[in-house]
Amino acid sequence: MRIPVDRSSAQAVYLQIRDRIRRLIESGALQPGEQLPSIRSLAESTKVNKLTVIEAYSVLEADGLVHARQGAGYFVSQPSIISPQSTSHFAPPQKVILAEQQGKSFSDFYIASVSAQQHEGMINLGIGFPIASGLEDLQRIARRAMKQVGSTLFNYDLPHGQLTLRQQIARLLVQRGLEVTPENLIVTNGSKQALSLAIYYYVQPGDWVIVESPTYHGILQILSNLNARVIGIPMTAEGMNLELLEQYLHTYRPKLIYTVSTLHNPTGVTTSQTHRASLLRLAERYECMVLEDNAYEGLNFEPVPPPIKALDQHDLVTYIGTFSKTLMPGIRVGYMVVTGQHYQPLVERKLLHDYHVSTVSQAIVSEYLASGHYRRHIAHLLSKHQQSRNAMLRALEHYFPAEASWTVPNGGIFLWVQLPSNLCMPTLCQEALLHNVLVADGTWFFPDLQGYNAMRLSFSHEPEAIEQSISVLGRLIKQALQRS
Ligand SMILES: Cc1ncc(COP(=O)(O)O)c(C=O)c1O
Repeated sequence: MRIPVDRSSAQAVYLQIRDRIRRLIESGALQPGEQLPSIRSLAESTKVNKLTVIEAYSVLEADGLVHARQGAGYFVSQPSIISPQSTSHFAPPQKVILAEQQGKSFSDFYIASVSAQQHEGMINLGIGFPIASGLEDLQRIARRAMKQVGSTLFNYDLPHGQLTLRQQIARLLVQRGLEVTPENLIVTNGSKQALSLAIYYYVQPGDWVIVESPTYHGILQILSNLNARVIGIPMTAEGMNLELLEQYLHTYRPKLIYTVSTLHNPTGVTTSQTHRASLLRLAERYECMVLEDNAYEGLNFEPVPPPIKALDQHDLVTYIGTFSKTLMPGIRVGYMVVTGQHYQPLVERKLLHDYHVSTVSQAIVSEYLASGHYRRHIAHLLSKHQQSRNAMLRALEHYFPAEASWTVPNGGIFLWVQLPSNLCMPTLCQEALLHNVLVADGTWFFPDLQGYNAMRLSFSHEPEAIEQSISVLGRLIKQALQRS
């Protein structure tokens, strides 16, 4: 195969190769199961660098059009068996939750989930991080990074993070539609620290804060610790219910709206451009700060709109991101984008907590970004996650009762399953645990720790483990429904 490339074109050469192969697949000239030319032979025939071909194949893999077989090369994939959009029936009850005091359950859940990882044979559908891969790459990249930082390891560093890393993150965000400069960025110990810093800065004890209901349980822990009062605005398939949001902004005058606009934890919903603009307009009208947590950025299978922060003209939005979900949680590198008068006070608070993020971790992330390995790693991850998500959707269709419904996320790690109200969730989760399957009980994600019957399932596993665990859960749910 010889692919004509136009070196004077504004389009990168690897994208030209991708487009050409995609057209060959879509037209049927390349059939499912057919092998693509080896990286070396395509690089030679097209007169490009091998890395360019690897990039093109990685993007095709991320798009689900081809897949790699260990040691054998790349092959054209079968068209997806499931048309995912057709199976999403997410229509939960629209009940606002007011919680003046919350339980302290996040720690219990977190520790149970981390301990379960050490448990031989346990399939942990409660986890919130990507499929582990690329350990050898990490070792190689870490060695290179250590050489480069050298003696700076023996010094203290800037509280807002190394300039090179901030420049690289700024470039990454510009590609995602958010124009920022390194001077707007603060590097933090994971995004959890960024969330804590922001909440303790913007919110006082007793203030009302709006969250999506359900929401990321880590934020509920922080708000509870601060004695903030929480309004849980129900999620719809399009995001937070904006009509109810306006009513509660008007009546309660909250200080802050916390939102996960892309690949929401726990439902996996991504909001549209219109929803983002409307949410920001409401925040402006009621002079309410917005904390936009984009922990799953980069894990989308299809393009997503630019963040809410990209629309922010009045420094109302603080944006938070992390490398935990794309690289690894253990590296503990997150960041926040803060514009205007709030930047300096937040840097001072960061300094108060821990001087700065580990120089080693910053250097490793920086090397991932500089070497282009980050992009390749994500492409690989997306292809694995897409297969796993589809495996979970197929298993749910097959094993779960008709009364259950679930979201169909366009990426990320989770989907959210709504279950009949006559099930006893703690009993079900306990029974699942006895069968070596750990699930996240939906109650953890509601501000009053109740909400409706649901569970968050992580598809960040190999398809075989997904099939096995979902068949166990399906059987247990059906048995429980028969008993009730
Ligand atoms: C929505 C959301 N925000 C923030 C975090 C915290 O991630 P980290 O501190 O590892 O960056 C998580 C982790 O699960 C999350 O799901």
